Amino acid sequence: MLMQQLARQDGQLFYEGVSLEAIAQKFGTPTFVYSRAAIVANYQAYRDAFSDLSPLICYAVKANSSLSVLSLLAEMGAGFDIVSMGELQRVIAAGGDPGKVIFSGVAKRAEEIEFALRQGIYCFNIESESELHRVNAVASEVGTRARITFRINPDVDPKTHPYISTGLKSNKFGVAHSEALRLYRLAADMPGIQIHGIECHIGSQITKLSPFVDALRRLLTLVDQLADRGIEIEHIDIGGGRGIVYADEKLVPMSVFAEAIKRELGERGLQLLLEPGRSIVGDAGLLLTRVEFLKPGETKNFAIVDAGMNDLIRPTLYDAFHGVVAVAERERGARVYDVVGPVCESGDWLAKERELAVLEGDTLAILCVGAYGMAMASNYNSRNRPAEVLVDGDAMHLIRERERFEDQIARERIVR
Ligand code: LLP
Repeated sequence: MLMQQLARQDGQLFYEGVSLEAIAQKFGTPTFVYSRAAIVANYQAYRDAFSDLSPLICYAVKANSSLSVLSLLAEMGAGFDIVSMGELQRVIAAGGDPGKVIFSGVAKRAEEIEFALRQGIYCFNIESESELHRVNAVASEVGTRARITFRINPDVDPKTHPYISTGLKSNKFGVAHSEALRLYRLAADMPGIQIHGIECHIGSQITKLSPFVDALRRLLTLVDQLADRGIEIEHIDIGGGRGIVYADEKLVPMSVFAEAIKRELGERGLQLLLEPGRSIVGDAGLLLTRVEFLKPGETKNFAIVDAGMNDLIRPTLYDAFHGVVAVAERERGARVYDVVGPVCESGDWLAKERELAVLEGDTLAILCVGAYGMAMASNYNSRNRPAEVLVDGDAMHLIRERERFEDQIARERIVR
């Protein structure tokens, strides 16, 4: 099938042991559905491939921050990569260990730094000289030393969508490779700072091996230069994970990926950290949506569904491809449709030119939306955000109720 744990039986789609039509009937649409088994398998694939290095796998919370997802990963021993205090609060609420949390992000506020220090997080990934001064000041005030890495911008082209490419000189992220030695020396003399590691993150949905290897080499050169100057680095963090298969992308097998990384690391004895998000949850989730209307046109046929760009913005924002399948197979009536949402924007589309045999009222599954799906959903057009369901064997669990109108206006005041 197109996604692990998704299979068709007697014309009906099942996710693990649960009928997707049953989920749509019970919880309504649009609804995000995740497979527990798929998340477990994706996490274990990293753990197994790198097992001889005992890496700290810090799941990137931004990909999918549902408490049940975080709790499942915490139970398996994962650490977490966060970019805000809210993400740290979610990790803690889900039972995650703050001692395995790394704090990324280009502009950490003082109150966020203080909260993270008091929670005893593992490390701060520093992205600029100004941020280094801020972390030093806050840590000194708190009376502690903050463990830090510098996020190095290695100037490597990851050959992915420009919006999700982060390791080029022209991107806002990290400190320049040429500045790194000076900054490490500066940090070494700061009372509130303890140098711990080195990090890079060059982009997301990277399907090739070479950008990872190129970036790692650039980092290792620095590690050796720092050692020559008496600055010891304990851990190396290679950033986000591999890309996933949305359509027909060819990925190198995880074992090849891991071997290449291990070969580069050599005998330096560095602890390895990884920050995968998409490859843990991306292909472990789908979006159920109902066909409201079929609208044949002169140049295009539209299948207008009840999920829109506010629920899943990836197609609109990145021109992203997501597979679409009918939950119940129909023998006849296949046509080519653009699958579009109800939002008042021409950019509100989920899929273009797909052959589907559907009638009004049918349920569709939009595939591979476990990462950056619900996490990027909004209330645009005053639409309630979707419900979320986790399937586990034969069981379906509602892990987030559909938002209600009252939730949307809970913090508003009318001023006359
Ligand atoms: N670490 C850092 C510092 C990151 O910025 C990111 C993602 C990750 C880890 C996780 O990368 P992953 O393993 O998921 O590739 N919304 C976009 C993706 C933005 C990614 C931003 N950073 C999308 O829907 O494609």
